[in-house]
Amino acid sequence: MRGAFMDYYLKLLFVICAVHQITGGVIKSTTDAAYKKYLSLRSLPFEDCGSLYQVSYLDIESCTKLPCSMARNAIVKVTVRFDDNGNGVSFLKHEVQWVFNYIKSRAAITPDPCDGYHGCIESASNGKAYWANVFVNETLPVMKGSMLWESKDANDQNLICFQVPVVITV
Ligand SMILES: *[C@@H]1O[C@H](CO)[C@@H](O)[C@H](O)[C@H]1NC(C)=O
Repeated sequence: MRGAFMDYYLKLLFVICAVHQITGGVIKSTTDAAYKKYLSLRSLPFEDCGSLYQVSYLDIESCTKLPCSMARNAIVKVTVRFDDNGNGVSFLKHEVQWVFNYIKSRAAITPDPCDGYHGCIESASNGKAYWANVFVNETLPVMKGSMLWESKDANDQNLICFQVPVVITV
């Protein structure tokens, strides 16, 4: 109940603040802080491994707690929000790896690169949001490990890096 109320209250706050945002200044920065707080409360926890652009939110389809349970052969949608500091990022080359017992293997991602032709990247409040599907290869070991996600720009500069604990299931 308390959570639902908080949720409602925050949404209301955004609507009010969104209207005020045109006036800019103090109200805008308060809104930004409140919105970032809201996103971080909703996000899955993750380890940042050196993102240039701050990741504000991570969602992994049907994962509500860590480690994220991922079934072999499944295709899992991942959604990320990040603050591109107003740089208009519109291209991301994903390099995603599974890490099990310190052994890394490449994950298959679609669409990759995300170049704006698949609706995979869009503007969001305070930055950008992208989604991509990751394929859980049937050859992955049934055990705990992690998914290491890096997204680079066209010049191979690392923009985003996060790591999430996962467990592969049959
Ligand atoms: C799944 O893993 C196998 C063995 O590592 C590899 O040959 C195959 O290309 C992978 N499939 C995809 C779709 O990445």
